[in-house]
Amino acid sequence: MNLQEKIGAPEGIRTPDPQIRSLVLYPAELPAPVVPIHYRRVNSAFASRYADVADRDVCYNNHRIKKRIWGDFLSEFVPPFPPRMTSALSPWQRFKLWRKNILAGWEEDAFECEFESMRFVNCRLFLCNSPDSVQFAFSSHNDSFERKSAQFRHTLIPLVGDGLFVSDGALWRQRRRIVSPIIHMSRLPDFAPVMVDTVLETRERWAKLPPGAEIDALSEMAQLTAEIICRTVFGRKLGHEHAAEVVAGFSDYQRHTMKVDLVTLLGLPDWLPRWYPRKARQAVRRVLAVLDQLIESCRLAHDSDDVSIIGRLFDAHEDSGAELNQYALRSEAAVLLMAGHETTANVLAWAWYLLSQAPNVEARLHAEIDQVLGGRAPTLADVPNLVYTRAIVEETLRLYPPVPMLSRETLTDEVYNGTPIPKGSIIVVSPWLLHRHKKLWRKPDHFIPERFLPGGDGPVSKFAYIPFSIGPRICAGLAFGLTETILTVAALAQDFKLRLKPGHNVEMECHLTLRPGESLPMSLQRRTRSPSETRDIAAAAPAAACPVGHG
Ligand code: HEM
Repeated sequence: MNLQEKIGAPEGIRTPDPQIRSLVLYPAELPAPVVPIHYRRVNSAFASRYADVADRDVCYNNHRIKKRIWGDFLSEFVPPFPPRMTSALSPWQRFKLWRKNILAGWEEDAFECEFESMRFVNCRLFLCNSPDSVQFAFSSHNDSFERKSAQFRHTLIPLVGDGLFVSDGALWRQRRRIVSPIIHMSRLPDFAPVMVDTVLETRERWAKLPPGAEIDALSEMAQLTAEIICRTVFGRKLGHEHAAEVVAGFSDYQRHTMKVDLVTLLGLPDWLPRWYPRKARQAVRRVLAVLDQLIESCRLAHDSDDVSIIGRLFDAHEDSGAELNQYALRSEAAVLLMAGHETTANVLAWAWYLLSQAPNVEARLHAEIDQVLGGRAPTLADVPNLVYTRAIVEETLRLYPPVPMLSRETLTDEVYNGTPIPKGSIIVVSPWLLHRHKKLWRKPDHFIPERFLPGGDGPVSKFAYIPFSIGPRICAGLAFGLTETILTVAALAQDFKLRLKPGHNVEMECHLTLRPGESLPMSLQRRTRSPSETRDIAAAAPAAACPVGHG
């Protein structure tokens, strides 16, 4: 008699391997409350390193599941991705696909290869697609690859000037030294209350909507993260008054700017002027005018109590001892607004979508936030205890990295594992490919937050999981973005479940960042918090170390 027969396993429960005597896999549809209440997540050598074990006898569908029976409650949900070509693409086919969606022009092989060179007319491209090659390009040989590719620079320079995001060399080092401490994790005690207050305003607004009201989750999250970044950069009042205007300008620019820089791909000189569509130029003029006006107003109101980011930039000095001039202030403010709002908005929108499709993950999230928060609003101090919430955010960042392609220009001749990389060629590191690499992840296309729990089979190396990039140019707002996302998911999921509009097809769209289409129609369902039912999962959730190296 095998184990399944022995416990009288109900329909749908299966033993994957009769050799593994006490492992039972449960389908993802198992009624969710059973999972957090009666099972503990433990490290297990034979159950792919982690599993749940029943800590008491449980009744399921009138069948008794005995204490200490192993179960695997992992989500079986595979979220959408563009079709992958099985045959090799010609440069022209690839170019056509990239113009529509930069993530569509990859063959199946790209999710297995480790390092590859490609040619597009006169342009040599090298794809670094293994932890070792990523470490080579972004860490150990960063000096040769620190310059952003011409495509990237020319797309963003009209908007962010000489800001941190696109600069390199001495200017980048100087600005990084100034900007990084101003948005560093040590500043989170100043920023987190702004984050929480802004999220709670959204929650209160949602609470006034009729049950089942339809919202566009993508624009709701864009509005929310824009408010947060504008209030932290320009102070609560001015930031709030101008958030919508600034964000509309950034979105317009992204919609109308060039998607592929043909001048670069044809290998033509960097100094050749690029052509920008009229609507993109109009959007730039609008955004820069608002930023100049905002900086002026902030300068007038600036005093020693000012904790806003722009206030700290007023007080900063360049290596020469001079204060930052207006152009530098505007460029850095534009970088922070651009880098700090759409990225977080996209992760949040994807997270709501993924949660709506994986009820067992959602139930476990609810159990954790009810247990950790006990019904009150989250604070910065709660973040280390919201371990499963963080795992959901990390898994969302793995599947849908907001910046899915990172590219650099080679500044000096280099050699990687015997392959020469000539000066001037382009290096591509793609979190999109790396995060779904078949040799690096188990079930790479599945949504399985548990892989990021302590003891889970998460990233094999810090160079295999790079949603925030890695090396000296790692995202300066990593702690800000991660904290903001965790607090937002926790505060909104306390009261709401979001459900995808029936019949809506989620399709990835990638201009500069990766989003779930132009909009994400979802309906709002109220939920009741249940702090008393969820005591048991605390033991399954010890504080985790940050896999992206932030301790
Ligand atoms: C989940 C949210 C975020 C993600 C996934 C993310 C991702 C990234 C990535 C991948 C880069 C490197 C781009 C490249 O190498 O081409 C980057 C750079 C940067 N990010 Fe973020 N980011 C996020 C949130 C933020 C926030 C909230 C801020 C500001 C408060 C911010 C500020 C920056 C800055 C200033 C840089 C440029 C760093 C440099 O070049 O030295 N990011 N980010």
